[in-house]
Amino acid sequence: MDIIEEDEYLFTFHVLVFMDRVVKMERFVKSIFADFGRQQKGGGLRMFRTSEKHEELRAKVRAFAEEEVKPIAFMLDQNNEFPHEAIKKFGEMGFMGLPFPEKYGGAGLDVMNYAIAVEELARVDGGTGVILSAHVSLGCYPIYTYGTEEQKQKYLVPLAQGKKLGAFALTEPEAGSDAGGTQTTAVLQGDHYLLNGGKIFITNAPFADVYIVFAVTTPDIGTKGISAFIVEKGWDGFEFGDHYDKMGIRSSSTAELIFNDVKVPKENLLGREGDGFKIAMSTLDGGRIGIAAQALGIAQGAYEHALDYAKERVQFGKPIAFQQVISFKLADMYTKLRTSRFLVYSAADLKDSDLPYGLESAMAKQYVSDMGLEVVNEALQIFGGSGYLKGMEVERAYRDMKITTIYEGTNEIQKMVVASHIIGKMPKEYAVAKKRGPVTGTRKKLIFKDGSAKERVEQLVGSLKNDGYDFTVGIPADTPIYDAERVVSAGKGIGPVENMKLIEDLAYQAGAAIGSSRPVAENLKYVPLNRYVGMSGQKFKGNLYIACGISGAGQHLKGIKDAATIVAINKNANAPIFKNCDYGIVGDVNEILPILIKALDNGEAKKPAPPMKRVKRAQPFKLAPTESIYVCNGCGYEYDPAIGDEEGGVAPGTKYDKLPEEWICPVCGEEKQKFTLVGFVESRQ
Ligand code: CAA
Repeated sequence: MDIIEEDEYLFTFHVLVFMDRVVKMERFVKSIFADFGRQQKGGGLRMFRTSEKHEELRAKVRAFAEEEVKPIAFMLDQNNEFPHEAIKKFGEMGFMGLPFPEKYGGAGLDVMNYAIAVEELARVDGGTGVILSAHVSLGCYPIYTYGTEEQKQKYLVPLAQGKKLGAFALTEPEAGSDAGGTQTTAVLQGDHYLLNGGKIFITNAPFADVYIVFAVTTPDIGTKGISAFIVEKGWDGFEFGDHYDKMGIRSSSTAELIFNDVKVPKENLLGREGDGFKIAMSTLDGGRIGIAAQALGIAQGAYEHALDYAKERVQFGKPIAFQQVISFKLADMYTKLRTSRFLVYSAADLKDSDLPYGLESAMAKQYVSDMGLEVVNEALQIFGGSGYLKGMEVERAYRDMKITTIYEGTNEIQKMVVASHIIGKMPKEYAVAKKRGPVTGTRKKLIFKDGSAKERVEQLVGSLKNDGYDFTVGIPADTPIYDAERVVSAGKGIGPVENMKLIEDLAYQAGAAIGSSRPVAENLKYVPLNRYVGMSGQKFKGNLYIACGISGAGQHLKGIKDAATIVAINKNANAPIFKNCDYGIVGDVNEILPILIKALDNGEAKKPAPPMKRVKRAQPFKLAPTESIYVCNGCGYEYDPAIGDEEGGVAPGTKYDKLPEEWICPVCGEEKQKFTLVGFVESRQ
């Protein structure tokens, strides 16, 4: 290389270095602008100030809420009534699919608009606010995010257009906060899945048309075995249970879902098999923005009422707003609303910017609902005695607000989510896992399925007699539940009041007192209130409990957990009572009870029962003595050969070394090889 060439080389080198710096600088500047740009939507610098377009939307929704919802809100609350007409109209105005693209029937707006709409509806009626929130965040969002094009066209379009209503079905009696405890199952059979089980506390049910349902497709592997399905109302075997009588948000409907062999077409699987838990969790991340917006709206409404009232109400010669103690309350409420609004809009803004928002939505849901509860409490306090009366908006807001600290993940769960973002997830070795058992403890669960109704009843009566029950003796039907040795209880499955004659006859022949589930006493009023059994009613601690047409809600089961023997008669094979009973017959009470009454009738009057002697609680049969204890390295679960692993298809009596190689830990899914021998025992009978 000569001199000139060397200069040219150096010159080129310096140009390249300079250009590299320019490129880096450009990238740096772009990144700053990108960051800045995230805060600019709708034209102006936002910093959680909404844009003009957002405020235009707010004005429209507010006008709708004031005209169409506010006048009927008290009536909806009193009658526990769903605002069908208002929701239909809201849909026709294009508001039921706000954050979804127009090509899928939506309004093509953003999450911030949707949050504002929920806030404005909730400002006049908390129940109407959650109808929109559950429909958009929980019913539509999973289809929009995880659905195939066909699923979007078939389901999302009519949902976003407001022609159909959506809902989300995750919660079950044993899977509330611990959503991974889902027990509903979906078994693939050719071109469809067979769905069995049930869901509780489902917002928008029974009026929703489309449900996102979570069910176990691969048992025993934990959250990775859960899948999501799109299920339509009206399919065979899909029924609704009780419509709940709630403390607040009474204009929103909430019901139980029952699935009995529901055929769900294979193409209605949402995402892939096993994706369900992540779909549920990520859906809830967004749903929590909706609940935070709902809480914000309820609190805003209550604050405005309190402010107006404080300006008008004169005591000690001046409006109470000018009493320092009241003005400070109003100042605090205003600050809480402002900080809450920042959190809601910040979470919405992150979602709109396609940035992670799970932490912010959890913070918003927890903080805004807790603050909201304080705001409505102070609003009612400012109203004094007048605020305590029915018909006052603050009284309704006070009741409506409470649920926002509970649903879509309790505030305690939100703190877990926030903490796990800060600290990281708890390492497996610290996790204490226990196998979930039935509410009533270990039970025999002998369900008589085979043979005619008469044969099944004979098997039941034979088993009870074997256990030592003497049906020649009896107690008066009105013996207090807590004193009774036996109780025959009626659930809603008993049907019309005339059928209570069957319960009376069965109670007599079984030598039992009469009890019931809570709805039978409280709503149907078939028996006095002091005869319903459950956590909030009477506890039964006697020997024999015969539950007729009772599905087995958690609170009922807690009231009978000390019974020595539980018998269940119910036509729904998936009713939770069957997992909590010693003996069961799947069948209609109208068919089974007359046969059972006859089978117990010895043709003579019952002799007075001797003082109660506690029957030994029925224990599941234990087979071979255990010789060795193996413990799972993953979670600490101890395999007991005497019990086996019923759900994993391992019979009682199977020793550890006889377990199939593919067997996995029923608690955490760890492989068999990961179990450690920790000791020996001679017999664990
Ligand atoms: N997004 C995507 N994936 C997520 C996630 C999220 N936000 N959170 C967790 N996951 C993934 C995890 O990464 C993990 O995946 P890997 O196994 O591949 O690592 C998997 O899901 C399991 O996660 P965790 O081990 O953290 O799960 P967990 O069993 O410990 O539960 C929990 C975590 C946060 C407590 C969760 O159970 C929860 O949110 N519970 C509350 C449930 C809830 O909100 N229920 C309300 C029902 S809906 C309702 O109320 C609606 C209504 O009607 C209004």
